[in-house]
Amino acid sequence: MNSANDLEELKTRLLADLNLAVSGASESPRLEDLKTKYLGKKGEIYGLMRGMGALPADQRPAFGQKVNELRDLAEERFAALEAKAEEQAINAKLAQSTLDPTLPGIRAPMGHLHPLSQVREDTINFFRGLGFELAEAQEVDHEWYNFEALNIPPDHPSRDMHDTFYVDEGIVLRTHTSNTQVHYLLDHKEPPIRILAPGFVYRVDNDATHSPMFQQVECLVVDENISFSHLKGTLFLWAKHVFGPDVNMRFRPSYFPFTEPSAEMDISCIFCGGKGCRVCKQSGWIEVGGCGSVDPAVFEKVGWDPERYTGFAFGFGIDRIAMLKYGIPNIAHLTRGDTRFLRQF
Ligand code: PHE
Repeated sequence: MNSANDLEELKTRLLADLNLAVSGASESPRLEDLKTKYLGKKGEIYGLMRGMGALPADQRPAFGQKVNELRDLAEERFAALEAKAEEQAINAKLAQSTLDPTLPGIRAPMGHLHPLSQVREDTINFFRGLGFELAEAQEVDHEWYNFEALNIPPDHPSRDMHDTFYVDEGIVLRTHTSNTQVHYLLDHKEPPIRILAPGFVYRVDNDATHSPMFQQVECLVVDENISFSHLKGTLFLWAKHVFGPDVNMRFRPSYFPFTEPSAEMDISCIFCGGKGCRVCKQSGWIEVGGCGSVDPAVFEKVGWDPERYTGFAFGFGIDRIAMLKYGIPNIAHLTRGDTRFLRQF
């Protein structure tokens, strides 16, 4: 029979049981058993609710409300006791363990860009900022693009400079990124042309400063009224960006069949500031790469009007720039993949 007395009795018993459960006495009931007993689907509180039908109809609302209050009280008490028990369990575990959660962790080794990639990305970003577009051409190419179109006929002595790897009759591993100039000018006929083309090139060459496969970055600008001073201005900006504001620069007359005039660009030695040291062989200058104004013969080969258009181009070894920038004495260090070496950059 349900009555207010039953309800009071249940409440008293529940509170007493809870007290006992947390008293720590050996015969004390377990919290989860008590929860089932009182709050479970078949527990006593729901039992009171289910029995409510036997009450006179006018007593049901008031009684129902009291049962609800008791259920809320029980839920609240159980939740509080459970939280406390959980905290105690964690504290007990921590007190036992030798793990010190306040010790700093062990940092996982983190990779970073290879120095060659750093130089390449930095150069790309710099030229992008000047409005240049990225371009690329194939590494395995017909020799016409690598040589003939660049004004280097088959019997031309400058082919010897290039120590070419032949893949097949007439097919070469490109010896320089200058083949990009040819492909780009054939495919794009809308001036102005402002491209930067980084990529791998191959030469039969192997010593402390040369490797058979290395990276170059090619630059080509074509428009009306492009002069050698545009080349100088562009390269000076770039040199200051890469080697610092104090770097000096000079052009030495040189020869490339696809540029006229041609020059070799030197920067003042960044190791001795131009005074002369071992790296610059006491000259105070370090060679960076070749450049020049686009030879009219190249424009003719690719179908551009040499009377109307002029341009400039340069090609630098990325490996060489990385070696200079980071003071690396042997090019092979860059491609050996030894992380003890690479970690430094
Ligand atoms: N292609 C030349 C080389 O590899 C460099 C160069 C590029 C020179 C563009 C002039 C203009 O040596």
